[in-house]
Amino acid sequence: MSLDAFIAELDSLSAAAQKAFDSAADSAALEAARVEFVGAKSGKLKDAQKGLGTVGKDDKPAAGKKFNEIKTAIEAALAAAQIRLAAGSATAGGAAAGGPPFDPSQPGVRPRLGHLHPLTQTIEELKDIMGRLGFTVAHGPEIEDERHNFEALNIPKAHPARDPLENFYLAVAEKSAASGPLLLRSQTSTVQIRVMESQPPPVRIISLGRVYRPDAADATHYPMFHQIEGLLIDRHVTMADLKSTLRMFARSYFGGDVHIRFRPSFFPFTEPSVEVDMQWNDRWIEMGGAGMVDPNVLRAVGYEPEEVTGFAFGLGVERVCARRHQVTDIREFYKNDVRFLEQF
Ligand code: FA5
Repeated sequence: MSLDAFIAELDSLSAAAQKAFDSAADSAALEAARVEFVGAKSGKLKDAQKGLGTVGKDDKPAAGKKFNEIKTAIEAALAAAQIRLAAGSATAGGAAAGGPPFDPSQPGVRPRLGHLHPLTQTIEELKDIMGRLGFTVAHGPEIEDERHNFEALNIPKAHPARDPLENFYLAVAEKSAASGPLLLRSQTSTVQIRVMESQPPPVRIISLGRVYRPDAADATHYPMFHQIEGLLIDRHVTMADLKSTLRMFARSYFGGDVHIRFRPSFFPFTEPSVEVDMQWNDRWIEMGGAGMVDPNVLRAVGYEPEEVTGFAFGLGVERVCARRHQVTDIREFYKNDVRFLEQF
């Protein structure tokens, strides 16, 4: 959509909202107008926001600014109408009863409430989607030992992923008794090990949480970010199950027209391994890694690789959230700019 068309659409939306709020004769009519224009799920303002994603890249800042102005104007018009109706009913009630010009039985003017951060909203939605596929949520600590972050995941001592420069090791005298130094976990795959150590197969879990890497921040990287880990262990699990689960996940979260692809790759804890990419604006963006759980990992937790197999995946939450909402730089999620955050 062109910038001019977007602005014209917003202006006419604003005029229509103003008219509807001004002409509402009672609180029921105002509530209906509120839902129609600023309803959280399917309000017209929400619909107009989707147009933002279709405006050309260079016009995005101007379009975003205009959108925020119109949003503020519409919200102000709504608040003014609420005050008008509250004042009207107070005067009427007070006059009729001969009492104070205030009717305490009338609903008050609602204060503006905040809402969950877009990443938290994403995490909740991902739990819902995977919950419908039978995955329950497991948790693991953010401070880990080397056994869970590396060794049981088949990552040997000399592997480059264990380099102190690639990790946040903790400079504490206290060490975990079993496994030496402690570090901030660099991946949620640690939770695979913790879950398998604590229960026999079958396993069908997801785990969502923060992970830490000394990566320089850019449009697709941040030194602290979130991953969603999935693990399914059972008899006769194959790569086809992995692929169909991830396709189903992508379709549920992004919508039916999403394209994802699986690219051969390597992770020490899966064999075979793949990278999972999603298509976005004619480019492929890496969404995560996945594969069939390596027999060495199954042995490390006391499972029998001749009896059970499984798949695992780990996806970047910031990246999927960004694609879903057409956010082109994940650093926006961490700036705490209310003008950005209130759009979600
Ligand atoms: C892993 O972390 C593996 N544990 C994934 C895995 C799990 C493979 C289970 C096999 C089985 P990787 O380092 O590629 O893989 O990270 C996974 C995803 O996290 C990336 O595709 C990306 O979406 C996201 N990611 C990685 N680094 C960053 C970062 N610095 N900032 C934001 N997102 C990141």
